[in-house]
Amino acid sequence: MKLRESGMPEESYWESLLDVELILDRLEIDGRLRNVIELGCGYGTFTIPVARRISGVLTTFDIDEAMVERTRERAIKAGVSNVLYVVGDVFADGFGGEAGGKDACLLFNILHCEDPLRLLQEAARVVRPAGLVPVIHWRHDPATPRGPSMEIRPRPEQIMAWAKRAGLVATPSPVLDLPPWHYGIRFHRSPSAER
Ligand SMILES: C[S@@+](CC[C@H](N)C(=O)[O-])C[C@H]1O[C@@H](n2cnc3c(N)ncnc32)[C@H](O)[C@@H]1O
Repeated sequence: MKLRESGMPEESYWESLLDVELILDRLEIDGRLRNVIELGCGYGTFTIPVARRISGVLTTFDIDEAMVERTRERAIKAGVSNVLYVVGDVFADGFGGEAGGKDACLLFNILHCEDPLRLLQEAARVVRPAGLVPVIHWRHDPATPRGPSMEIRPRPEQIMAWAKRAGLVATPSPVLDLPPWHYGIRFHRSPSAER
């Protein structure tokens, strides 16, 4: 099932609303991360820059085959080869694979879905103890030029409450400003978490 209001505007307009390198810098996405998962590649807006930064493989999931093909095409053009592409419904089938195998699981512009707790639990399952679950979302501000409707758009404190229930821990000063229109939070799976 495609998550509610997860459609995208035209590619260049979407990407004009995000400072991708600033976002990845502030979330500390870099070569210390080896194998990483991304939910929803969309146009590959983050997929390609993240793949360039990490030292392992980025596995990206999207339910929309056209989005996956667009991302693959852009990656090939950019000479980026450390991406595995999965066309699939993460809500129905999860991320697959062994629990605890990944260094990070990216949940970008996705937690306005019907069951965010389930996605955060699935992210917590696939990362190793102390693994990273970075989240970004549109600011809870009607002035934002895009983003899901305000009724379903999560505030940072709501995301933190869900994440806590999923067994994730936020960094001490959790809410990062990601101008112009986003905020972000870095969560970690507890180092002592058991499965
Ligand atoms: C709002 S876009 C965000 C894309 C990307 N994360 C970004 O921030 O640029 C949400 C993406 O999630 C995908 N999606 C929606 N429901 C999904 C599902 N159940 N499983 C996997 N992907 C899904 C959509 O096709 C879309 O590409």
